[in-house]
Amino acid sequence: MEFDELFKKRRSCRAFMPVPVTEDQIQAIVTAGQWAPSPLNEQPFEFIAVTDPTIKAQIQKAGIEAKQIVVDNNGPEWVKKYPMNFIGESPLILVVVYNPNKGGLGSYFGQPHGALQSTSACIQNMLLKSADLGLDSLWFTFFNPSTLKIVLDIPTELDVAGAVFIGTPAMEAKAPRRRTPKIHRDRFNKEK
Ligand SMILES: Cc1cc2nc3c(=O)[nH]c(=O)nc-3n(C[C@H](O)[C@H](O)[C@H](O)COP(=O)(O)O)c2cc1C
Repeated sequence: MEFDELFKKRRSCRAFMPVPVTEDQIQAIVTAGQWAPSPLNEQPFEFIAVTDPTIKAQIQKAGIEAKQIVVDNNGPEWVKKYPMNFIGESPLILVVVYNPNKGGLGSYFGQPHGALQSTSACIQNMLLKSADLGLDSLWFTFFNPSTLKIVLDIPTELDVAGAVFIGTPAMEAKAPRRRTPKIHRDRFNKEK
C-alpha cells in the first residue's frame, strides 16, 4: 500500500469481527514493531500475545474498574458510555511492555523517557503494519498498569506501554479530523 494511503487508513477500532489473527500476521506485526528506532538500539520492548478468552476477560475487567474510577471521580460525562465489551471480543491483544532503564543516555541530561519513546514508535509501527494487512487496531491504555502486571505475570521491573487490540473491523470507523500542522520557522512563534 502507498505510504500516504497507509497512514490515513490506520484507524482506531472499537468493534471487531470474530475472525482470528493468523500466526503469520502476528509475526509480521511484531516484526514491524521490533524494527522501530530506539536509543543505542536497546530495543527495550517485548510483546505478550493474548488470545485466551479467560485472560481477555480479566483485561476487560481491568478496563471496567478503570472506567469506574473515572466515573466515581467525576470524570468526563462521555466516559459513562465508553463500551468495554469489545475487549473480550477482540481476536488478538498484543500487550507491549518495556524496560524503562533501557532508554539510552537521556537520563544524564533531562530526557528520561527514551524507553517509552521508542516503545511508542514500536507500537506505531505495529498499528501501521496491521493496517497494511487489512486489519484495524486500537492502542488502549484505559486500565491501571499494576492490575495488568498481575493479570499477565509481568516482571516488576517492566512497564506497560499499552494493550494493542487487533482484528477485522466490524464496522468502518470514521476518521477523526486532523488540524493543519503548525510549523514554526527557525524559532517558536507564539503568534501562530
Ligand atoms: C497513547 C495512546 C493511548 C490511547 N488510549 C486509548 C484508550 O485507552 N481507549 C481508546 O478508545 N482509544 C485510545 N487511544 C486512541 C485514540 O483515541 C485515537 O488514536 C484518536 O482518537 C484518533 O483516532 P484514530 O486513531 O482513529 O486516528 C489511544 C491512543 C494513544 C496514542
